[in-house]
Amino acid sequence: MKNRKKEHLKIVIGEDVRHSYNYWDDFMLVHDALPEINMNEIDISTQIFGKKLNAPLIIAGMTGGIKEAKIINEELAKIAEKYSIGMGVGSQRAGIENKDVVDSYSIIKKYNIPLKIANVGAPQLLEWNDPVEKCNEAIEMIDADALAIHLNFLQEVIQPEGERNARGCIDEIKEVSESITKPVIIKETGAGISRKVFEKIADSSIVGIDVGGAGGTSFSAVEAYRAKKIKNKIQEELGKIFWDWGIPTPYSLIEIADLCRDAGITLIATGGIRHGLDVAKAIALGADSAGVANAFLTCDSLNDTMEIFLKSLKAGMFLTGCKNLDELREVEIWSL
Ligand SMILES: Cc1cc2nc3c(=O)[nH]c(=O)nc-3n(C[C@H](O)[C@H](O)[C@H](O)COP(=O)(O)O)c2cc1C
Repeated sequence: MKNRKKEHLKIVIGEDVRHSYNYWDDFMLVHDALPEINMNEIDISTQIFGKKLNAPLIIAGMTGGIKEAKIINEELAKIAEKYSIGMGVGSQRAGIENKDVVDSYSIIKKYNIPLKIANVGAPQLLEWNDPVEKCNEAIEMIDADALAIHLNFLQEVIQPEGERNARGCIDEIKEVSESITKPVIIKETGAGISRKVFEKIADSSIVGIDVGGAGGTSFSAVEAYRAKKIKNKIQEELGKIFWDWGIPTPYSLIEIADLCRDAGITLIATGGIRHGLDVAKAIALGADSAGVANAFLTCDSLNDTMEIFLKSLKAGMFLTGCKNLDELREVEIWSL
């Protein structure tokens, strides 16, 4: 597993593993030529799971379990603290099963991050004898404010050693969400959430959904590269066929935003977010926050990237005449 995590990082940083098309470009915020507001007074702060963030941004869970991950998580944690935004860690399976690597996740506790999100995979809930206990361990490991259960069956199907038995996940998700005291989030990892999936978990105690839609990092692409390296031609081809699989993030929001609003579920839009203008579009389509992985992992300067995110979000709000995120939620957005 250690090697797999290392390979994922190496591939995502070294190769272009994004979807061939970014669906945020299908949408346009309608320009207001007379905004009648002062850009300096725009307020982009928000509350997510009762925690105040200075911007509707979460560094999406990516890594842990290897020594490189400790360095990356620490760099990301510094930025999350500096800008007072949310942060998730990668799947904590490695830390739960091997205490030697706990510090690659728990390093983020050193920083004052307003919202820390623990992470476990739905396939692991099926493997573990006591999933609730393991989820609590993950929460304690980083002193988390919420727990994300990730859904990654696209990746599992392409990964040569993947877990292809998804039977029983819904019951486990329900059990965990009812037994854990922290807010529990369902998080796709690049293939999106449909209305049908929303309905499958509607009677659980889930309080957050990260649609994790298509358009950004493609785990089918990542696994295609891994399969190529070990000369597994079949899985490599499968990875190429499913490279662009999934519900694009903005369309996933359109699918479930009204259902989430009615059910009081916090909605996070991760997948293909490149800058603050994409964040603005996500909020206008009903998200409470955006999540970002690739753009933060592959950038040259995290500080500059964050500044560009915040400035472009505010510029998008200024040019649509929105003083705060509530106004942005009501703004006109056209699909092109
Ligand atoms: C190297 C890497 C590792 C990831 N590992 C995890 C993980 O362990 N758990 C998880 O929920 N998501 C994981 N993700 C998925 C991201 O959280 C995010 O949903 C996905 O990359 C889409 O966002 P992006 O287009 O901004 O990259 C990972 C992403 C990357 C790039």
